[in-house]
Amino acid sequence: MKTVYVLNGPNLNLLGMREPAIYGSSTLADVQKLCEEACARNGLALVFRQTNHEGEMVDWVHEAGRVHAKGELAAVVMNAAAYTHTSVAILDAVKGTGVPLLELHVSNVQARESFRHHSYLSATARAVMCGLGVAGYGLAIEAVAQW
Ligand code: DQA
Repeated sequence: MKTVYVLNGPNLNLLGMREPAIYGSSTLADVQKLCEEACARNGLALVFRQTNHEGEMVDWVHEAGRVHAKGELAAVVMNAAAYTHTSVAILDAVKGTGVPLLELHVSNVQARESFRHHSYLSATARAVMCGLGVAGYGLAIEAVAQW
């Protein structure tokens, strides 16, 4: 059984109360449940985490890279949140480990402020999804189950 790492960046612990007009009313616990159900449907194991710290995200990509090296990783589904637009360190971790990456955003970042239009991760991601709300997490898992 392969494993999907669903990694969430800063402020996503505030889902449900954070700018609900943009991010909706589901909590991160709701998102985790949705991911668990999608993984169960697709015969995948799930590692689901959230951090407000860039280095911790880098460490988790390295951990996923070790799973990848054993041939046991389906993909990393990452909502790097604000680090998407700032983090060369996370980009280098993805490049350095070679993990297959699906970059995910709850909101349509292209329809928002211009500083959200650039992603350090997109060029190294195998796929990018945004604007589907938290349902995007379930759809992302359905997609990487085919990788
Ligand atoms: C986000 C979009 C980012 O621009 C923002 O910084 C986030 C969340 C999203 O899921 O829509 O924190 O990644």
